[in-house]
Amino acid sequence: MKVALVGATGMVGDVMIKVLQERQFPVTEFIPVASERSVGKTITFNNKDYTIVGLQDAVNQKPDIALFSAGGSTSLEWAPKFAEVGTTVIDNSSAWRMDQNKKLVVPEINANQLTKADKIIANPNCSTIQMVMCLAPLHKKYKIKRVVVSTYQSISGTGVKAVQQLENELAGIKGEMAYHYPIFKNAIPHCDVFEDNGYTKEEMKLVNETQKILDDRSIAVTATAVRIPTAGGHSEAVNIEFENDFDVNEVKDLLSKTDGVVLQDNIDVNTYPMPLYANGKDDVFVGRIRRDGSQANTINMWIVSDNLRKGAATNTVQIAEYLVKNNLV
Ligand SMILES: NC(=O)c1ccc[n+]([C@@H]2O[C@H](COP(=O)([O-])OP(=O)(O)OC[C@H]3O[C@@H](n4cnc5c(N)ncnc54)[C@H](OP(=O)(O)O)[C@@H]3O)[C@@H](O)[C@H]2O)c1
Repeated sequence: MKVALVGATGMVGDVMIKVLQERQFPVTEFIPVASERSVGKTITFNNKDYTIVGLQDAVNQKPDIALFSAGGSTSLEWAPKFAEVGTTVIDNSSAWRMDQNKKLVVPEINANQLTKADKIIANPNCSTIQMVMCLAPLHKKYKIKRVVVSTYQSISGTGVKAVQQLENELAGIKGEMAYHYPIFKNAIPHCDVFEDNGYTKEEMKLVNETQKILDDRSIAVTATAVRIPTAGGHSEAVNIEFENDFDVNEVKDLLSKTDGVVLQDNIDVNTYPMPLYANGKDDVFVGRIRRDGSQANTINMWIVSDNLRKGAATNTVQIAEYLVKNNLV
């Protein structure tokens, strides 16, 4: 496979390189792409140095697959240009996710929808991916009515600027701010931009993308997304109301048998998921599973995953692997 990596110098791009290497994705030609600021610099992939090129250069080379993580406006403008020359684009930005003609894919849930005709495939938002990984098997079994989610999101989800902001704050240096406020010792209830309805774009992604991936617009979802100064991954407190009753042990059993989900739930020995330990792992971790006694057929759980891995790079590479395995590129 001739593979272009658009956004190769970013937070997601860096993890994408690691994941492609670790999973030994069959790359025969590697084309790293970034902004004009980075063109001409070198980047290492599989122990070989490659020169970063611009977007038009990459299109001219007609890659088989282009993995995009360079922001929404770059995707909107350039993904169609790659598609036109026959490249299959897997895009990490929010640009195409809610487009009716584009598939929004978490491989464990809905990769079977993909066909050769899908030239731009959307990778869901990081906070959505980890949540739906746990919701999907439960929806099948008990039918979800409503989800109330509060997120505790890592600064790495904002990109390199935010990581730099925290490092500056820790070192007492005044520098460029990724957020409106300091993040060290803080919790900022503001991820992405505000919409007219008073919710943030990140909160509405949790609503709309969940319904699209689970292919059920009847699932009610409401979200509060909060940025905290952790680096290892996103955490989510999730309250789920089902149509049907459940047995807590059966829910645990079901989640423990779900591909890509790891049950970490033993309060007797203080076992529960935490971002410090999810960091660098590809799985979604779930624990603190308990019945919500305040309402019928309702359960609480705590879901943690590395937003740069399953929330971005790993999910993208898994989609690419599915395409290769099924001769769709
Ligand atoms: N961080 C996450 O957890 C996460 C999760 C899921 C999805 N995403 C999405 O992935 C994308 C990248 O996120 P990130 O966190 O990796 O951001 P980042 O660290 O700021 O990196 C951005 C990357 O995009 C490149 N870029 C920016 N403008 C460009 C342009 N005009 N043309 C070509 N390349 C350009 C940058 O190149 P230069 O180095 O040359 O500037 C850099 O490689 C965003 O759309 C984000 O929403 C992020």
